[in-house]
Amino acid sequence: MLENLQPGWIAGCLGRGEQATRNALSLRARRKFDDRNVETMARADSANSVRPYCHLAPNYDDTVGVPFFRRTRRAFEKLIRRYGITFRTAADIGCGTGLFARYLNRSWNVPVIGVDISRDMLRIAARNCRGGRVCLLRQDIRALRLPHPVDLITCNFDTLNHLVKDGELAGTFRSVQANLNAGGHFIFDMLLQCGPLGKVHRYGVRYQTAQRQVTQHIRWDPTSRQVSILVSIRSRSMPRRILEAYRERAYSPEEIGKALLEAGFVIRGVHDATTLAMAGRCSPRVVIVARKK
Ligand SMILES: C[S@@+](CC[C@H](N)C(=O)[O-])C[C@H]1O[C@@H](n2cnc3c(N)ncnc32)[C@H](O)[C@@H]1O
Repeated sequence: MLENLQPGWIAGCLGRGEQATRNALSLRARRKFDDRNVETMARADSANSVRPYCHLAPNYDDTVGVPFFRRTRRAFEKLIRRYGITFRTAADIGCGTGLFARYLNRSWNVPVIGVDISRDMLRIAARNCRGGRVCLLRQDIRALRLPHPVDLITCNFDTLNHLVKDGELAGTFRSVQANLNAGGHFIFDMLLQCGPLGKVHRYGVRYQTAQRQVTQHIRWDPTSRQVSILVSIRSRSMPRRILEAYRERAYSPEEIGKALLEAGFVIRGVHDATTLAMAGRCSPRVVIVARKK
């Protein structure tokens, strides 16, 4: 089940007393209350907050993973046809729980390397990819070193937006380029700085499974160009709420384009991730098809 909580985006994280206080406030006061609460929750629960993806990993596929994977697959198949791309080897970097790596292996019958930095995500990936020709590596994509170069590298669902420090994106593009065969393709998505959440600056999404409730609170700060994501996980087996915090950076088309060209790529297409039409300046999320020179 997916429930959009906007504008009461934080409501799912509050206890009963806090809910009542919040309900008595005006809309403006409520917004302030919500902002204050996210910060307080992050601090107060710091003993309970954990490394990124640690607790989300086992819930990832049932909540965000599978729906996003379906969208990614649809876009990928259209773009592969459109650009006449062929490949005999592939790597999916920031592979998470391995859904896309497994798909590449099974549907395209190629050996695949899945790379991620998170042990917890890789543990799920190992289960998802069992029995296939998927080799999983724990590596930082900023210093990617595949065992051999491949024809295709994919990188999906904001993985590159996790690179928040200056120079990291450009460095990662260089690493990707160095791990591709000549003429090989790099297909990836990214949130752009022009309103990555569309018209809103924050929203909440709640996912409910039989065992757990996962709520994502997402906030876009145009000044710092950062997206803060607070994931709150409640489960029957854990007495306290678990919080995981992530930060992502949105990039401008110019930054991405310059970094790709300097790394030795030719940009074949920049597509709006939803429509797959050529992206406008303000597409919230784009899918980029680049080829190694
Ligand atoms: C939002 S998840 C996307 C996972 C997967 N690509 C998908 O489509 O579901 C982002 C993934 O990027 C990984 N990641 C973030 N920074 C990384 C880095 N520097 N090196 C390798 N993996 C990284 C995280 O561990 C996480 O699994």
